[in-house]
Amino acid sequence: MKAAICTRYGPPDVVQIQEIGMPSVQDNEVLIKLHATTVTPGDCVIRSSKMLLMRLFFGILKPRKQILGSELSGIIEEVGSNVTKFQKGDEVFAYRGMKLGAHAAYITLPEHGVLTIKPARLTHQEAAAIAFGGTTALHFLRKGNVQAGMHILINGASGSVGSSAVQLAKHFGAEVTAVCGSSNVDWVKKLGADHVIDYTKEDFMKSGKRYDLIFDAVGKSSNPAGKAALTANGKFISVKGGIARENLEDLLFLKQLVEDRAFQPVIDRSFPFEQIASAHAYVEQGHKKGNVVITFN
Ligand SMILES: NC(=O)c1ccc[n+]([C@@H]2O[C@H](COP(=O)([O-])OP(=O)(O)OC[C@H]3O[C@@H](n4cnc5c(N)ncnc54)[C@H](OP(=O)(O)O)[C@@H]3O)[C@@H](O)[C@H]2O)c1
Repeated sequence: MKAAICTRYGPPDVVQIQEIGMPSVQDNEVLIKLHATTVTPGDCVIRSSKMLLMRLFFGILKPRKQILGSELSGIIEEVGSNVTKFQKGDEVFAYRGMKLGAHAAYITLPEHGVLTIKPARLTHQEAAAIAFGGTTALHFLRKGNVQAGMHILINGASGSVGSSAVQLAKHFGAEVTAVCGSSNVDWVKKLGADHVIDYTKEDFMKSGKRYDLIFDAVGKSSNPAGKAALTANGKFISVKGGIARENLEDLLFLKQLVEDRAFQPVIDRSFPFEQIASAHAYVEQGHKKGNVVITFN
C-alpha cells in the first residue's frame, strides 16, 4: 500500500509517498481503506521538529512514528475474528491523536478505539475533518467551564480549532465574539459568531470590553495580556496550555451535533494524497481556514 513516510525531520518535501506492506489485522481490529485524512499544524510541528525537547518526545534523529496523520474517514475492508461492533463495508471516521498513522492508504484500528460510524450526511472529506479541531475545542471549552449566557471571546476563530470552538460555544448557549483576519470575517459570522473582531484592525485587549472566558484557539496571545479583557472571575485558556487527548465519548458527542446540524467541519482546500507535501507547505503557513483535507483515489 502507499503511505506518506516522514523519513527525517525537515521541510515539507521530507514527506515522501512510498510503497510499504499492508498492515495485518489482529483479532480485535478492523482494516480501513482511507477515503480522506487531514494535514494539521500538529503534523507540521512533528515533521519540522528542531528542538531537542520535542525530539526527546518524537524521536531523536528522525520521527519515531514515520507515518503522520491524526484523523481519517474511510470504509472497513476487513474485520478481525473477535470484532462485533463493525462489519465489512461500514463507513467510519476516527481520531488517532498522537498515535498518528492516518497518512496511508490503509490503517488498522482496534474496534474499541476512537472510531465510529460516519454521519451519513457528511462526505468522507468532511468527516475526516471533525476530530482534530472539534475534540480540541471541546476539551478546552469544557476546561473553561463553558456555560449558557457566558460571554466568550475566541481568538483565531478561522482555524480548525477556532471554527469548531465558535460552533460549540454557540451550542452551549454562550454569546460569542470571534477574532479573525479581514478575509474571514464574513464566513466566521455565518458560522454563528454574535460579534466578529478583525484582528488586523482592532486589538480585542484594548477595546475595553470584558469577557467571562477568553479561548485562544491559535495560541497567539498570552495569559497576562488576555487578563486585561477578562471580567473579575474571567478565565483565560489557550491551546498551548495542556494536551487534549483523544477519546471516543467526545467523538460521539461531535457526531451527534453533526447529525443535529449543530456542527459542520469547515474545509479550506483538499489535496490528492500524491500532493501531501504541498499540503504540509500550505498548512505550515498558518493561514488555513478550518481544515486541509487529503483525498485518496
Ligand atoms: N493542546 C492540544 O492538545 C492541541 C490540539 C490540537 C491543536 N493544537 C494547536 O492549536 C493550534 C491551532 O490549530 P488549528 O489547526 O486550529 O490552526 P490553524 O487552522 O492552522 O490556524 C490558522 C488560522 O489562525 C488564524 N490566525 C493566525 N494568526 C492569528 C492571530 N494572530 N490572531 C487571530 N487569528 C490568527 C489564521 O487566520 P489569518 O490567515 O487571518 O491570520 C488562520 O485562519 C495549533 O497551534 C495546534 O498545534 C493544540
